[in-house]
Amino acid sequence: MTKPIWIKHAAQLATLASDVKGPRSKEAMSELGLIEDGSLWIENGEIKAVGTTGELAKRYKDRVDQAEEVDASGRLVTPGLVDPHTHVVYGGSREREFEMRLEGATYMDIMNAGGGIHATARMTREATEEELIEQTTRRLDSFLAHGVTTVEGKSGYGMNIETELKQLRVMKTLQQQHAIDLVPTFMGAHAVPPEFKGREDEFVHLLINEMLPVVASEKLAEFNDVFCEKGVFTPEQSERILEAGKEYGLVPKIHADEIEPYGGAELAAKVGAISAEHLLKASDEGIEAMAQAGTIACLLPATALYLREEAAKGRKMIDAGVPVAISTDCNPGSSPTTSMPLVMNLACISMRLTPAEALTAATYNAACAISRQQQIGSLEVGKQADIVLWNVKNYQELQYLFGVNHVHSVWKKGIQVVN
Ligand code: NIG
Ligand code: FE
Repeated sequence: MTKPIWIKHAAQLATLASDVKGPRSKEAMSELGLIEDGSLWIENGEIKAVGTTGELAKRYKDRVDQAEEVDASGRLVTPGLVDPHTHVVYGGSREREFEMRLEGATYMDIMNAGGGIHATARMTREATEEELIEQTTRRLDSFLAHGVTTVEGKSGYGMNIETELKQLRVMKTLQQQHAIDLVPTFMGAHAVPPEFKGREDEFVHLLINEMLPVVASEKLAEFNDVFCEKGVFTPEQSERILEAGKEYGLVPKIHADEIEPYGGAELAAKVGAISAEHLLKASDEGIEAMAQAGTIACLLPATALYLREEAAKGRKMIDAGVPVAISTDCNPGSSPTTSMPLVMNLACISMRLTPAEALTAATYNAACAISRQQQIGSLEVGKQADIVLWNVKNYQELQYLFGVNHVHSVWKKGIQVVN
């Protein structure tokens, strides 16, 4: 039995508690469950009580002497942030492409010339498992330092069976070694590898008949993601891959309508995807279909900024009833960042989410996008004690003072991991 932890006197405790149990849309995205002079009682990595400092002092009056007290005076306290979309496991880096894009090349030009995802695939194929673990650990440390306690991670820089499995095994190892919880997604359909150029359907066949069965039998992934984009995978190929994944119990996700409108949002609704990602160019019909189906829009405003594109229509999607989550999209090409606080700032600035909606999108709705809302995403009795203390006094200030890491300290499953 570890010592209980008593966090008290939070200037503002944003619990994110709400009666809405699934992904939150419309007004429910503004329900932060705020408590002034807030307090949490934690035992064995779990939240045992939530209330005001006065209420918890009374309730635990016989045990306060045994507890480790944490004074959160003057600080905002929130659930650990959740990043529901990353490509965090990769080899090498692509800083030269950043320069090339500033000189005028487009993201797709670079990819079609053998760079982009293909460049990272070469470097990831060459890297040993140990090298990938070492590089990914550094990125996860940075996530944690930015208040992120759970990270979804995709394969997709192998596009051959060995390297796809290597990436997923790295995630499995890091799940045991690192404080951050990792949620694995298979994304063999990230690009068609050069050896299959002109034989795209053969690659889709290989993916469905050889890769998916192994990933599923080794239980290396929970989700199945596809880059549905003109020049990558068509909606028809994407549908086949996602439907095949469902047969193995893998839940669909889709990189949809990022570069061009391509029916990706509509497809997400059709196949019952848990989330559709990017959506910069999603059509009005697609947005409506997602609202009807309850598909979460996982929006990536740092990627839009980095590609110098107009951000997704986050405001419009929320108003249309789509539950919105946000994410870094951490990857070496279109968004090499680990800062979820920056992503929250950008969600407000470039997509006109309110500060409250941005916090919901980075916590509770992000947890929903990776099916973890029973364990994380809000500070409620019985949930994992994943908690961040911030050097700001309220949630508005967190979004207003932008581009700065305001993390004061972080607890993961009741253990202090950043101080
Ligand atoms: O989500 N769009 C496709 N995949 C990634 C980028 C991957 C890369 O450039 O390495 C994304 O933006
Ligand atoms: Fe992505």
